[in-house]
Amino acid sequence: MFRGILVAGFLVLASGVAFSEPPGDPKSVASEDGKYADANGDPTYNVGPDGTVDWYTFSGYRRYHSDCHVCHGPDGLGSSYAPALTESVKRISYVDFIGVVANGRKEVNAAKQNVMPAFGTNKNVMCYLDDIYIYLRARSTDAIGRGRPAKKAAKPASFIEAEKACMG
Ligand code: HEC
Repeated sequence: MFRGILVAGFLVLASGVAFSEPPGDPKSVASEDGKYADANGDPTYNVGPDGTVDWYTFSGYRRYHSDCHVCHGPDGLGSSYAPALTESVKRISYVDFIGVVANGRKEVNAAKQNVMPAFGTNKNVMCYLDDIYIYLRARSTDAIGRGRPAKKAAKPASFIEAEKACMG
């Protein structure tokens, strides 16, 4: 059901130069062991009626704030140095998102010298990239507010397995 972007050795298909189609509606239409997908099969969030977020959204909140926040600002809101990723995920597809993070990107001209580092060999990022993407999607629609989500679902067994396989 989920698109296989991250496979062993982090083979990343998108080069991230020319952006392809925009992302679909982030509404979740399917789930498998606590991980949700939109109509395109791309990973997305789920927030229960009492505000409980799915595990991936919570995990993404933590990973975002340990690896991305320094440049992209708290809660995905952007900074003077790097764009607001809550806006980026409305515009660029899941595949392109993965491609930029894995390969990095530079905008260097007379006015700007902004560099997005390549994280393709950083397991602390690559093993949790779906989580970060899911968290940012939840922020992009205001399904969750700023700060740490107060209530979260239990960690799914498939998350534990995938984490073990990825982190080695
Ligand atoms: C050292 C600073 C820095 C860090 C750390 C960083 N980024 Fe970036 N990122 C940037 C800059 C600067 C850009 C804009 C580059 C450009 O304009 O080409 C960018 C661009 C991006 C883009 C493309 C946005 C768009 O709208 O096209 C994505 C996606 C992205 N970063 C994701 C991440 C994620 C996820 C993390 C954490 C794992 C992260 N970045 C960590 C500096 C950083």
